[in-house]
Amino acid sequence: MPGLTAPSSYSQEPPRHPILQINSKATFNAEPPRSALISSYVTPVDFFYKRNHGPIPIVDDIESYYVSICGLIENSKDLFMRDIRMLPKYNITATLQCAGNRRTAMSNVRTVKGVGWDVSAIGNAVWSGAKLADVLELVGIPNLTSVTRSGGKHVEFVSIDKCKEENGGPYKASIPLSQATNPEADVLLAYEMNGEPLNRDHGYPLRVVVPGVIGARSVKWLDTINILAEECQGFFMQKDYKMFPPSVNWDNINWKSRRPLMDFPVQCVICSLEDVNVMKPGKAKVSGYAVSGGGRGIERVDISVDGGKNWVEASRCQKTGFPYIADHMSSDKWAWVFFEVIIDIPHSTQIVAKAVDTAANVQPESVETIWNLRGVLNTSWHRVQVRVGHSNM
Ligand code: MTE
Repeated sequence: MPGLTAPSSYSQEPPRHPILQINSKATFNAEPPRSALISSYVTPVDFFYKRNHGPIPIVDDIESYYVSICGLIENSKDLFMRDIRMLPKYNITATLQCAGNRRTAMSNVRTVKGVGWDVSAIGNAVWSGAKLADVLELVGIPNLTSVTRSGGKHVEFVSIDKCKEENGGPYKASIPLSQATNPEADVLLAYEMNGEPLNRDHGYPLRVVVPGVIGARSVKWLDTINILAEECQGFFMQKDYKMFPPSVNWDNINWKSRRPLMDFPVQCVICSLEDVNVMKPGKAKVSGYAVSGGGRGIERVDISVDGGKNWVEASRCQKTGFPYIADHMSSDKWAWVFFEVIIDIPHSTQIVAKAVDTAANVQPESVETIWNLRGVLNTSWHRVQVRVGHSNM
């Protein structure tokens, strides 16, 4: 691939911030502590979770780097960075969440397969770049097209990293053409994150950002865009990132029976308290993040201090403190909200949070009912155990 190299070993990985909790080293998967996550509405790049399936690619020569657009279109085209930068630049504030977020809690019910994540495989960034809808227009696919003249219905993004799940081949995924050509879906070919060029971990020089959709479809280190009749047949679309019922195990699994995960469901997490926090009796702040996929906003967040019998509604506390936010409130359709409530905690108890999105979807009560063998989409009510001690604490 011109301009980009994919190493086979982990000897040339980029530097990472020591705040990150490392869940696996090679491949590198890491998340910030939950308290750090709510220190800023826009997650600093250093604190942003990193989810990789192979060694991090290296750009040798940015001038010769290009993305090929091919497949079921009349005229294939190679786009250099300068061509992409010539298109209108959009700044979209969008929360990226790995489908494996909160997997560790699901594995406490029954073993699941996959990297263990606490609650921070999620982050909110201002992504800047060209809209995929504009890029596709350049190759003759008008906005709001769902089928090309030659029968293309899906847009595949192919990277260059070497993934063992793909037998050493690149990471790839696809989205429907109707989403890719819809300017309102805000799918980006992003070259900046929080106003800086993407760093290596997050896809330098160019990545896809599919707002409202599980992180797995936001392909990093983009090499090729392929217009296909069928959805991408890669491992991460067909043999991973699908959700099965609790009855399915590794002996009776039929991968073809389920669709690849796309929009993520409503989610919320308490970040101000660790499990198990020891505290004095009295008032305490309960705060965290809430987000839903598919462009659905958050309607409300309910908090309970008695394990879910009684609830109070939390208030929204959009922490700004980041220069981009003032200009981009209109982009919040794809972004998380922070919630907060001061609550009296008289004795040891379980504090629970559940969110409701603008389509009135509510998080499921128990993780047991949504357990699945890959440990994806744990969006059950978030519970934190607190131990309240008295005078001699
Ligand atoms: N793209 C490539 N090329 N390789 C990958 O391993 N991981 C995917 C996605 N895009 C991945 C990728 C997954 S599973 C997630 S959750 C997000 O990238 C994570 O993006 P981040 O590391 O920038 O947070």
